[in-house]
Amino acid sequence: MTKVTAPRTGTRTPRAGIRTGARTEPTAGRGAALRVEDAGISFGDFRAVQGIDLDIPAGEFLCLLGPSGCGKSTLLSAMAGFLQVSEGSLTADGVPVSGPDPDLGMVFQSSEALFDWMTVQQNVTFGPRMRGRSRAEQNRVADEFLGLVGLRHCADRYPGQLSGGMRQRVQIARVLANEPGVVLMDEPFGALDAQTRQVLQQETARIWRASGCTVVFVTHDIDEAILLADRIAVMTAGPAASIKSLYEVDLPRPRDESDPAALRLRTKLREDIGEEVRKAMRDQGLDDRGLDGQELDDRLDREAKGA
Ligand SMILES: Nc1ncnc2c1ncn2[C@@H]1O[C@H](COP(=O)(O)OP(=O)(O)O)[C@@H](O)[C@H]1O
Ligand SMILES: [Mg+2]
Repeated sequence: MTKVTAPRTGTRTPRAGIRTGARTEPTAGRGAALRVEDAGISFGDFRAVQGIDLDIPAGEFLCLLGPSGCGKSTLLSAMAGFLQVSEGSLTADGVPVSGPDPDLGMVFQSSEALFDWMTVQQNVTFGPRMRGRSRAEQNRVADEFLGLVGLRHCADRYPGQLSGGMRQRVQIARVLANEPGVVLMDEPFGALDAQTRQVLQQETARIWRASGCTVVFVTHDIDEAILLADRIAVMTAGPAASIKSLYEVDLPRPRDESDPAALRLRTKLREDIGEEVRKAMRDQGLDDRGLDGQELDDRLDREAKGA
């Protein structure tokens, strides 16, 4: 997959740089609005997703949930410009997404996306350097975004000298260094241990508030989605997967997982996704009878771990 992005031509106005000072209200208008209309994506004869409609306002945090293999990464890759929609349209601030763009930043699950031979600072300043920004500007960006992810003290280290959680922070800082309107995250914490995941989830919420960008965050994990999202889009099981339902997460932040409203939402989401997991099992010729209660929990847990 493309790791290095080249600027694409478009007519959107460049955004003002991200400011990371404390703010009390989410800042509307710094992120880009994403619009997906009746979009389909095929691989040869195989239609992975179809009839996708999503209207994501600037600054929203949208989580994309769905059974394993339904097409979450496919849809996210199209939003990043790595894949083209075969039907329908996909636009950012009204401009068709036609290729990779630093304004549409992607954080991958694997920190192999980092350049191992570059220091943390060089990784983070890669985008600005490629765009010919001055040394002073590169230093400002490194300072600002390494500060935001709490890694200023690691600027001169190499990725191989960092923990998995720290490497994911570097990936986030590297994407933010391009001051993108949209940050796309594909199960970014799926490979981390539970404690590190929890810390990074909290940091993601804080960074999103500070940056004002639009975030589309793919996850298997219902609790992660409830913790982070303004809205949760649930996908149907593939092939030809579409958006099954949309949930507003109208809960105060920081989120409290034990809030009765959060628990009710969790139950609804489990039923919704459980139905799709069962459908996927039947399609694979597996017996889905009795897949409820603990068995469904176990199955969803395994899905959440990517097993
Ligand atoms: N490059 C590809 N070529 C062919 N099929 C693909 C390709 N990428 C994904 N698929 C298929 O598209 C479907 C959706 O995959 P993916 O988006 O990775 O699912 P998810 O991220 O929800 O687990 C799967 O059936 C997968 O096998
Ligand atoms: Mg995926």
